[in-house]
Amino acid sequence: MADAIRIQDLRKNFRLGFIPKTREILKGITFAVREGEIFGYLGPNGAGKTTTIKCLLGLIRPDAGTIEILGRSHLSPRSREPLGFLPENPYFYDYLTAREFLAFTADLFGLGRREKEDRIRRLLALVGLERAADLPLRKYSRGMLQRAGLAQALINDPKLVILDEPLGGMDPIGRKEIRDIIVRFKDEGKTVFFTSHILQDIEMICDRVAIIVGGRIVKEGALRDLVSERVLFTEATVAGLPPAAFAGLGESVSAQGDRVLLRIFDESKVDKVLDLVRGQKGRLLSLSPRTETLEDIFVETVTRT
Ligand SMILES: Nc1ncnc2c1ncn2[C@@H]1O[C@H](COP(=O)(O)OP(=O)(O)OP(=O)(O)O)[C@@H](O)[C@H]1O
Ligand SMILES: [Mg+2]
Repeated sequence: MADAIRIQDLRKNFRLGFIPKTREILKGITFAVREGEIFGYLGPNGAGKTTTIKCLLGLIRPDAGTIEILGRSHLSPRSREPLGFLPENPYFYDYLTAREFLAFTADLFGLGRREKEDRIRRLLALVGLERAADLPLRKYSRGMLQRAGLAQALINDPKLVILDEPLGGMDPIGRKEIRDIIVRFKDEGKTVFFTSHILQDIEMICDRVAIIVGGRIVKEGALRDLVSERVLFTEATVAGLPPAAFAGLGESVSAQGDRVLLRIFDESKVDKVLDLVRGQKGRLLSLSPRTETLEDIFVETVTRT
């Protein structure tokens, strides 16, 4: 399948105030987003995520590198036609209702009346705002506003939707709702590119990810390729035996009441721990292998760079 976004060796420097000195913000970024996937652009604050998006949307000019959107150079204004966009801190007109806000955006794209009404109805349903559609936006919660913003990003029926921190500032329930909507976008055949610094959100819905740290891509790939099945350690919770009983078998990470939480790093010692528990009349409460997560990889790369 074709690539929805192809970024090659993208560089961007920013001037530091009035002094004739620049700071390198994007240091040669290369990655590709495939059509039809949910792609997560992950990185800590200040890594360069929004700057990448601004280059992609033609809002700022890169110093070097090429960007292609669905096969067209981003220098061509037509490359932006198939795009939908939700900015990082969207601003909404307080006194408009969601329906009016969507109608206003539809007018900017020059949609005909029938098409506009159909699309607004469908989008309100897609983001679950049908019942609140005629309330002014100033009465909306943050999660509802974000959903209105997501509907807005789809008003021109884009092929590719770019969402900058769509989950930012959401509580866990709000985040789940937004994640579900993003998955619905994909089910509608859209390609979704979104940024986040929250790993779990990326881990749950993305097909592929790129991790950016300090203006460089440090990892890119399918989640299942990035995260190995490698067992890091096995965690055992045991009751009825003192932590000292496990000396040499694992690391006791905490003890509460008569419970000991033990991390066993050497797989061959798991059986020994089980024998010990049985032999000394302890009770095994849980035993679970901990495999590598995206979080482990993220923390490892961020602290290494
Ligand atoms: N117009 C600008 N002039 C100078 N420096 C800028 C400008 N825009 C961004 N920067 C700097 O570039 C770096 C990257 O910013 P960017 O907004 O791309 O980060 P981000 O990854 O989106 O972070 P966040 O997770 O906080 O949104 C930051 O250090 C920021 O201060
Ligand atoms: Mg940002």
